[in-house]
Amino acid sequence: MDNTEIQKQLKEKGYISEPINPALDLEKEIRRLKKEKKAVILSHFYVDGELQDIADFVGDSLQLAKEAEKTKADIIVFVGVHFMAETAKIINPGKKVLLPDLNASCSLDESAPYEKFCEFKKNYPDHKVISYINCSAALKTLTDVVCTSSNALKIVESFPEDEKIIFAPDKNLGNYINELTGRNMVLWDGSCMVHANYSYKKISLLMQKYEDAEVIAHPECEKRVLSLAKHIGSTASLLVYVQKSPVKRFIIATEIGIIHQMKKVCPDKIFIPAPCNDSPDACNSCTYMKLNTMAKLYNCLKYELPEVKLSDEVINKARKSIVRMLEISK
Ligand code: 13P
Ligand code: SF4
Repeated sequence: MDNTEIQKQLKEKGYISEPINPALDLEKEIRRLKKEKKAVILSHFYVDGELQDIADFVGDSLQLAKEAEKTKADIIVFVGVHFMAETAKIINPGKKVLLPDLNASCSLDESAPYEKFCEFKKNYPDHKVISYINCSAALKTLTDVVCTSSNALKIVESFPEDEKIIFAPDKNLGNYINELTGRNMVLWDGSCMVHANYSYKKISLLMQKYEDAEVIAHPECEKRVLSLAKHIGSTASLLVYVQKSPVKRFIIATEIGIIHQMKKVCPDKIFIPAPCNDSPDACNSCTYMKLNTMAKLYNCLKYELPEVKLSDEVINKARKSIVRMLEISK
């Protein structure tokens, strides 16, 4: 079933048109429906705080994929973005996987359409493909091994030093791993609209203002921004770092949703969102992640829609690259 058909069904079932009774206690209703339907809620660190707090598990991409693999629940509700829900479906195809808003995409995923990547790959017939998990299921079918920000180094190093590799779709993460390993992987020209937008100049000025502050950054940031960082890592790794560090003030160069967890685990510390180039206030907020709301999550559980569906062919082809990643990152 394609997305148009799904949207049609949503409308027919009142998912889109039915107004939610404002008197409804959404949190209570979500918890009730979740129990009744034996569903598990998996939320990424970038969604709004209330959507993190209602989840059974909150984590980075790798942790969430592992949770999706081992869950015994009948339904997985992925409060994150589309490629994450697709990954859950691929590794646990027997489960119903729901995503509160099917439009929750990712600029990296969008930067690498299947047909364009097929053409690109033809130029490198003897190269292996490592794909960052932030890409479509279709792209994963063309991939040898998937990686996430937390295991990219390990995955790349699992290949012999002289192996020719295409790394897609994030050029910033690819470039960072090239520098760490001294390799020369061919990079697809994609980037994250949030992380590629942090301003080196403005962060440097903030560092002058707060001399006690440490910059910590996600590897999707540009090289210049990464050069300012004391610690570089996945969202989960950044969270662990702020807990372990004796430092009291941090400049956070990743999506602001993670600050919700940072404040929870370190209420006495100060977290300053890193400023961006074009400086609208919400620049470090991922508009795709923020499509998730409590109302959509409630409707999603109530109607069991929208459901993420993939053909058996795509599941079987894409699965190998994800299973390989999970094996290597054990
Ligand atoms: P993590 O795997 O580090 O959570 O990153 C996901 C993501 O989308 C970063 O922009
Ligand atoms: Fe994609 Fe960037 Fe949003 Fe992460 S923050 S989901 S990479 S658009």
